[in-house]
Parts: sequence; C-alpha cells; structure tokens
Amino acid sequence: MKGVSKRLADKVALITGGASGIGESTARLFVRLGAKVVIADVQDDLGRSVCDSIIRSTDDSISCVHCDVSEEIDVEKAVEFTVAKHGKLDIMFNNAGIPGNSNPSILDIEREDFKRVFDVNVYGAFLGAKHAAKVMIPARKGSILFTSSVTSVIHGEVPHAYSASKHAVVGLTKNLCVELGRYGIRVNCISPYGVVTPMLRKALGDVQKEAVEEVVSAAANLKEVKVEAEDVAEAAAFLGSDESKYVSGMNLVVDGGYSTTNPSFGEKFRKKFA
Ligand SMILES: NC(=O)c1ccc[n+]([C@@H]2O[C@H](COP(=O)([O-])OP(=O)(O)OC[C@H]3O[C@@H](n4cnc5c(N)ncnc54)[C@H](O)[C@@H]3O)[C@@H](O)[C@H]2O)c1
Repeated sequence: MKGVSKRLADKVALITGGASGIGESTARLFVRLGAKVVIADVQDDLGRSVCDSIIRSTDDSISCVHCDVSEEIDVEKAVEFTVAKHGKLDIMFNNAGIPGNSNPSILDIEREDFKRVFDVNVYGAFLGAKHAAKVMIPARKGSILFTSSVTSVIHGEVPHAYSASKHAVVGLTKNLCVELGRYGIRVNCISPYGVVTPMLRKALGDVQKEAVEEVVSAAANLKEVKVEAEDVAEAAAFLGSDESKYVSGMNLVVDGGYSTTNPSFGEKFRKKFA
C-alpha cells in the first residue's frame, strides 16, 4: 500500500469548479497527495491564481482550462487536454454547481432560472461523466465523483431547482454505477452540509463569512468542530483513491449527522415547557 501521505500518487484528476470553494480545496489536497490535477472552471483568472499558488517551477502537478460544464465542447476539450497532458484520466470530479435564484416560492420561479440550474448541476455533471467514461472504459478503470448536497436527503431550506438538481445527481450516480461497473469504473457522490464558500455566502445574500459560519455551526448536529471545504475534499480523496476500490454507487453524506435528526419537536417542547 502507498504511504498515506501520497495516496493519490500516479493519479490524474480533472476537477470541475476547481477555482473556488470545495473544488479548490480538493485540487490543493489532491496535489498534496501526489495527484496531477487539472482545474476546469469558468473563472479563468481565479483558476490560474489557484494554480500559481500551488505550482513550483518546472512542476506540472496542476493546470487549468476554461470550461463551462453546460457546454459539451468545453467538457470534451477539458478531458482531451487532461489526457494529452498526463496520458490518462483516473478521477473525474464533477463538482461545479450553482444555487440558482433564491426565490423560495414556486409561484415566483421562472422556467429559465430553473433550467439554468439543471444545465450546470445536472447536464454539466452528465457531460463530465460521459466524456470521462469515453477514456475510462478503454482503460477499464476510473473513479467518477459528483458533488450533490445534503439537500438530497433533507428538504425545504433551499430553492426547488437546486434541491431537484441535487437529487438528479444522486440518481445519475447510482444509474451510472451499474453501467460503468462492468468496466471497473466506480461512481460515487458526496453530499456536503453547509460549507462556507463563495457560493453559500452568495446564496444567503452576500452576508459576512463569520455570520454564515455562526449560523452553520449553530444549526449543526456535530459540535466542537467546524465543517470546512477540506472535509469534503478528504471525502473526495478517499473516493478517488484505491482505498475505496470496492465502493461504488454511494451517496457519501458529509454532514456531521445533520440529516439524521430533526430537532424541531424538542425545540418546540422546550420553548413551551422550559
Ligand atoms: N457550499 C456548500 O454549502 C455546499 C453544500 C452542498 C453542496 N455544495 C456543492 O458543492 C459544489 C461546489 O460549490 P462551492 O460551495 O465550492 O461553491 P463555489 O462557488 O465556491 O465554487 C463553485 C465553482 O464552480 C464554478 N462554476 C459555476 N458554474 C460553472 C460552469 N457552468 N462551468 C464550470 N464551472 C462553473 C464556479 O466558477 C466556482 O469556481 C457545488 O456543486 C455545490 O452545489 C456546496
């Protein structure tokens, strides 16, 4: 077995949405663990600055490509770029996502807003899996990952389009796990609880980072620790590495147990009788 510190040595990973938040943390961790990483994102300057902050001279451990995951040609080119640069693709992390319009009521949601969320979160994930499969099937190995959300198992506090899109990602994971299992390819998704990233802050109305952290911690089930993007990155490292070589079709919920409980009865009870 490889040393734990370099457990992704020899792996090549493509990470969509790798310029920020969970994708950025995953890119940084994967490089530390020995992987070659390509970031695919629409934020080119940010992607480049992430690469520049990691890369050492003469080092090809990380690079970035422009890629809008909702455009098939971009996704195809990102996969081609990765294979041309590193000779193969072992881990495809379909992580790019958007929350969409924060309108809470179905009466206020426009079809175009709903569609845009699906274009990125579902169609983009599907395209990533499709083009990764094209190179992984002949290699008869690979790990395809998606970022879903805790909203795939608990409901009501996010926009409808976002919730529906993240359920679709779980369905895609499980269906693909069956088809691609025949070729030795594993397919899993990760469902994080609230992680204070630019996306979450924006979704909550551009509130201060500290204020979001406070709310996330107060609502969390697991106390004494703070959830960070690195915690999701660690789950991706496990699912991308050979340590999970027999794990496929799983929705790994990284939520400190948040979705296993519903504190509302106890809270209401204590409020009335305490
Ligand atoms: N932050 C959370 O609380 C949370 C919780 C559950 C799931 N998620 C999911 O985690 C994933 C990463 O989100 P994050 O919180 O790190 O947000 P983030 O905004 O920090 O990062 C998302 C990245 O995706 C990129 N992106 C957006 N649209 C794209 C497109 N069309 N093509 C390519 N890249 C695109 C953005 O440029 C950005 O770099 C998303 O799928 C999100 O739904 C986040």
